[in-house]
Amino acid sequence: MSIIMSGKEVSANTRAKISDEVKAFKEERGITPGLAVIIVGNNEASKVYVRNKHKACEDVGMYSKVIEMPEETAEEELLSLIDSLNKDDEIHGILVQLPLPKHIDEQKVINSISPKKDVDAFHPENVGKIMIGEYDFLPCTPAGVMEILDYYNIEISGKKCVIVGRSNIVGKPQALLLLEKNGTVTICHSRTKDLKEETKRADILVVAIGKPDFITADMVKEGAVVVDVGINRMPDGKLHGDVNFDEVAPKSYAITPVPGGVGPMTITMLLKNTLTAAKKYILTKG
Ligand code: GUN
Repeated sequence: MSIIMSGKEVSANTRAKISDEVKAFKEERGITPGLAVIIVGNNEASKVYVRNKHKACEDVGMYSKVIEMPEETAEEELLSLIDSLNKDDEIHGILVQLPLPKHIDEQKVINSISPKKDVDAFHPENVGKIMIGEYDFLPCTPAGVMEILDYYNIEISGKKCVIVGRSNIVGKPQALLLLEKNGTVTICHSRTKDLKEETKRADILVVAIGKPDFITADMVKEGAVVVDVGINRMPDGKLHGDVNFDEVAPKSYAITPVPGGVGPMTITMLLKNTLTAAKKYILTKG
């Protein structure tokens, strides 16, 4: 029987701790950590994510401000909103939900967020800090993966870690975080010559490609630890990961399910980053 690594359980534990810390922080400092989430347009999946972020903030006692902007919002207007949130003392974290409509330059928007309020850790300054291991924030999804591995006592040092997917949001930062824990890391992507040959060598396999049930049993080594970052809505309405769970689970030592795996951790790490940002704010404001 493989271990089912429940992000839901890890998340509930971590959120309880965050909630206590928020309470203590409010009592000691009289400041409520505040997160602003901006959503532009009508992407249905994004709307669900934003609603969940808002609820999660309220559940741990944080202030959450959701700003909904129409699809046709001009880039300048979004930049001007971010500028005002950068200066807003009640807001410690700013998150612009991605993807943005095509006419808006995503990187330009990310660059406009104050690095001190960049709770996604997407700003080049924060990305650079992660590269040298001196960071305040970690990107939420890969940080959530690390928390799950830690909770289930998965040894990383010396292990062969294979990541499928090279996005700026997951694959690349995930590689750095596993490397920091002394894993031997390989990043695979759509041009990788023999993907199966790579994935079969993995002691720890992290998959983030957005293709439902893509990783099959023949691609996984017996006894591997498998982390599935994918969340794919199937025609029947069910959620599937990037890993064919039914096939791969019996072969693995431990595996994350979908739903209830990495997904809940992403928002939990966002809460953690927002609390960190509020604490840092105290340091700079004195
Ligand atoms: N869209 C999908 N994942 C994310 C994320 O982690 N942060 C933001 N801002 N948008 C996303």
